Amino acid sequence: MVEFLEEDVDLRANTQHFFDYVSAYAITLEAKRLQQVGCFLATECKVAIDNGFKGELLATDYDRDRLDFLKSAYEETEYAKIVFKHQDLEAPKVDDFTGVDLLVAQAVFSNIQPETMNDLFQCIAQSDIKCVLIGDVYTKETLGFGPMTLSSVRSPNDRNWFHPYMQLAHRNGFEAFYLPDFMYSSFRVARGIFVLHRGISSSVHSEAAKLASERYINRQEIIWKVYSALNIDRHWQKGDIKRAQSQ
Ligand SMILES: C[S@@+](CC[C@H](N)C(=O)[O-])C[C@H]1O[C@@H](n2cnc3c(N)ncnc32)[C@H](O)[C@@H]1O
Repeated sequence: MVEFLEEDVDLRANTQHFFDYVSAYAITLEAKRLQQVGCFLATECKVAIDNGFKGELLATDYDRDRLDFLKSAYEETEYAKIVFKHQDLEAPKVDDFTGVDLLVAQAVFSNIQPETMNDLFQCIAQSDIKCVLIGDVYTKETLGFGPMTLSSVRSPNDRNWFHPYMQLAHRNGFEAFYLPDFMYSSFRVARGIFVLHRGISSSVHSEAAKLASERYINRQEIIWKVYSALNIDRHWQKGDIKRAQSQ
């Protein structure tokens, strides 16, 4: 974790279009509070700040050591306004989402057991959340709306799950649409952006898509510079990303 932060990664080099949508929806919805669940390094919150989002930011995770580390790592930085809080997604509570209108989850829900996903979505449905942006993996069977009974599928390659996000949305009173996404693992598993929403007009979605596209197009040069310098068959080594960024 420390090593990755020391790389001083330029967040604009991230191949995922998901992050463009995070800041675009935060700004377009004029979100009062954005919550990033399973916060890892709080990348989503940092991208939103970098792009001028002025609302509150809450980053949650079940790993208390991680939360303490991030709090002190960002203390003296422009990311100090992020509030870090403990939350276990496998024991969800409506209170975990108090005051939140935009929820974002990238590569997090695939870690969660299917039984818990229903409870989690029931809590989300009882909150004030208007929009949930999910960046995650899927398979043929879990994509689309399908029957009300559509269930999760175990990944054959790891301990992750493919969840039927669009169907989970419908079961819990949200509309949903799908956008494709891309990262290194896309050569092995499909990845998408699932936009779950309620009470949001189509003009707001169009405005968010416009902002997201503009950011994505503006960062093309750095995306492909770093992409071409990295080897997708092995984990990055210390210094790789820093070197690629400065070429
Ligand atoms: C792959 S990382 C997220 C990456 C991050 N979104 C990004 O793009 O930088 C998954 C995160 O989910 C957290 N996590 C896994 N299971 C969890 C649970 N049951 N409750 C809360 N957080 C959890 C892990 O601690 C980790 O920080």
